[in-house]
Amino acid sequence: MDYQYIVVEREDPIAVITLNRPQQLNALNWQLVGELADACEALDRDEACRCMVLTGAGDKAFAAGADIKEMAGQTPVTMLTGEFNAWDRIRRVHKPMIAAVGGYALGGGLELAMHCDLIIASENAKFGQPEINLGIIPGAGGTQRLARTLGKFVTMEMVLTGRTYTAQELFQLGLINQVVPQGQHLERAKEIARTIAEKAPIAVRLGKEAVLAAFETPLEQGLATEKRLFAMLFSTEDQKEGMAAFVEKRKGEFKGK
Ligand code: COA
Repeated sequence: MDYQYIVVEREDPIAVITLNRPQQLNALNWQLVGELADACEALDRDEACRCMVLTGAGDKAFAAGADIKEMAGQTPVTMLTGEFNAWDRIRRVHKPMIAAVGGYALGGGLELAMHCDLIIASENAKFGQPEINLGIIPGAGGTQRLARTLGKFVTMEMVLTGRTYTAQELFQLGLINQVVPQGQHLERAKEIARTIAEKAPIAVRLGKEAVLAAFETPLEQGLATEKRLFAMLFSTEDQKEGMAAFVEKRKGEFKGK
């Protein structure tokens, strides 16, 4: 598929999606988010792809937020009905997604990184929710995902002051999986993606579903979900293969069946 604002590179069994508006620090206009949702859904359906990496073009930004110039003239109605809803499509992707962040991940950029399942950051990466400086608040899940990961007080500071945070600060607070030397974020994210891509695909999919359930359900319901998904995996060929491979002291060959 031809995209204007993103680039999709297949390195089966992984794929790299690059936000590609470097002159605008990869600011997320509606078309870009729509293209991203299309690409993620297409890769989600494609069996040859087992894990996606999301990154930004250039060395200055992952994404410096939603496109302020495009947002400036919007109304409540266009914000509710427009392509903004593509975020929900990205949220529903079943395959694991890893954000590889170099430079700025601000506003919608940080929210997009938090739509992913792991975040790998270059040591020069900078994060924040500066919407308050524009007279708005985060609108693509920032208040909720930050609060669920960092708790009330750090989130309040981020959302109400708009301050920028270093990768190291957010690593210590548990929002970032790994901080790597400048410029190595994409390579490290790809390494992790390849590791995940070797695992049993159905187990990976259900593992993601189970962890995400923790953010949406009370404990009792989350535990029941986990138990059901866990039991379901005993109907897969990959479970038989994984356990046989352990007993036979060899590496499992998983087929996603
Ligand atoms: N939306 C639209 N355009 C953006 C943008 C955004 N969120 N962030 C950066 N850009 C554009 C700038 O307007 C500029 O374009 P121009 O050359 O046509 O004027 C270009 O990207 C480079 O940005 P610039 O501000 O010159 O770079 P900088 O290195 O001086 O500053 C930032 C970098 C990230 C601190 C600054 O761009 C910024 O504050 N961006 C907005 C961040 C934000 O508020 N995000 C939340 C949006 S809800």
